[in-house]
Amino acid sequence: MGDGKQPQMESYSRHVLVCTGDFCSPDRRGRQLYSLLAELLAREDLLFGPTRVKRGETPCLGVCSNGPIVVVYPEGIWYSDVTPGLLERIVVEHLKRGRPIDEAVFHRL
Ligand code: FES
Repeated sequence: MGDGKQPQMESYSRHVLVCTGDFCSPDRRGRQLYSLLAELLAREDLLFGPTRVKRGETPCLGVCSNGPIVVVYPEGIWYSDVTPGLLERIVVEHLKRGRPIDEAVFHRL
């Protein structure tokens, strides 16, 4: 690669992907959720250090209904119909405390 140097990655605990596509959730709800996720991660002190959570948006996660769709890795835990209130629970209970919101999970890796 290029100059021969490896890229650097600081340690992190989880990676969250939010679908911001319009097929699973019209009215830009996925995009609003993605913005809210940044605020919640900051509020819960999950942006820095080894417990930090990386976030990413994607145009489609291949589900295309019952959105917004959110998936958390490395567990591969999938959430549907994610409202702002559910996202807050995901951040606090799953991402921070390690306890998934079982009743909102529709698929596990
Ligand atoms: S548009 Fe969201 S899963 Fe396909």
